Amino acid sequence: MEQISAEQNHYLNDFSKLIIAEAAPPAAEISVKHTLLKRLEAICKEVSPDAQLIPFGSLVTGFATASSDLDVIFTVGPHFDQSPDDLSSPDFRIPHILESKLQEEGFDATLLTKTRVPILKLVQNATDENPFDLHCDIGFSNHLAVFNTNMLLTYSKCDPRVKKMMISVKSRSKIKWWAKKRHINNTYRGTLSSYGYSLIVLHYLINIVKPAVLPNLQVFPVPEDTPTTEIVFEEAGDDIFDIWFYKDINALSKSSNTMHVGELLRGFFEYYAYTFQWGREVVSIRTEGGLLTKQEKGWVTAVVRPGKTENSEVKNRYLFAVEDPFEIEHNVSRTCNGPGVGRIKEEFRRAVRLIRYRDGGKTMSECLCME
Ligand code: CTP
Ligand code: MG
Repeated sequence: MEQISAEQNHYLNDFSKLIIAEAAPPAAEISVKHTLLKRLEAICKEVSPDAQLIPFGSLVTGFATASSDLDVIFTVGPHFDQSPDDLSSPDFRIPHILESKLQEEGFDATLLTKTRVPILKLVQNATDENPFDLHCDIGFSNHLAVFNTNMLLTYSKCDPRVKKMMISVKSRSKIKWWAKKRHINNTYRGTLSSYGYSLIVLHYLINIVKPAVLPNLQVFPVPEDTPTTEIVFEEAGDDIFDIWFYKDINALSKSSNTMHVGELLRGFFEYYAYTFQWGREVVSIRTEGGLLTKQEKGWVTAVVRPGKTENSEVKNRYLFAVEDPFEIEHNVSRTCNGPGVGRIKEEFRRAVRLIRYRDGGKTMSECLCME
């Protein structure tokens, strides 16, 4: 990494503090989300008495920012490997019934069936009593998300800088920081999901910055008495996934890296701007070293595969390659198209230029996140 002055370093630190202070969701918003979750669960139980809603995503990892959506999975029964058994039938009875029920209750609810997995999208608009517009995605089968959320949370508990990095890089907040503000955090418009940004931040903190901020929790040996449910997950009649990661983080020694979040952010931007080989490499946080090649994964040409929902199809692009840590055949950045990848790369380079040259970094906070 090119040297920067003590002054620039100081500005970077101030910049990251500013972002974190402003992007955190107000306590009232978190409480309204939990109230919504309870109300939704009560409605789900009217559809199916054993129904449960399991939250995942940023509400659980703590990476939520103001206006982050609420991600939940609908399951029936005490164990979440019991998704609605008629899910594979053509009419997806439960999601459809739930959609109508929620509409009757006054929600703006839409069931998406052309997506990779069915998703029920809900909006609760702000009212006099509740000043927040709330967006909620209810999934019916993506149970791996609960495991990967848990791993992100575990990484976050390893070091307080993890959460700060995540919030600085991605956000759906009104204040919208870097990725959102620069319009490169939108899966519908050819760029990367927040989850994708979380994985590429982890790769930097585990494998690239020296000394490492985080250990690789997936390469620890599995202790002998570990229950099988922590080692593998079998999707109903489908594939088996290796979901093991080390969880006893109190037994780990703290990182010897003493950089502040601003310095880490700068290293993160530099790495993806100039070192990471977008055309050849795959970010793979489960792997020792954190990188594989597209060649060895066979991720070379785009393919179209049938999705899990009726008539849906999934276009797997490999222009930017970020392997899911558990569903290893899934490229988390398959949503990135050519122009999208071009814009993401350019934003990394722009961020580096601003950090290096602009007023010694003084007005960087305005510029990095400027619309
Ligand atoms: N997820 C996944 N595979 C993807 C995208 C998302 O498994 N390709 C799961 C992950 O468990 C992730 C969760 O969905 O934690 C939510 O994804 P997303 O909304 O992109 O991330 P958040 O951290 O919730 O960010 P935001 O606050 O912007 O909503
Ligand atoms: Mg989310």
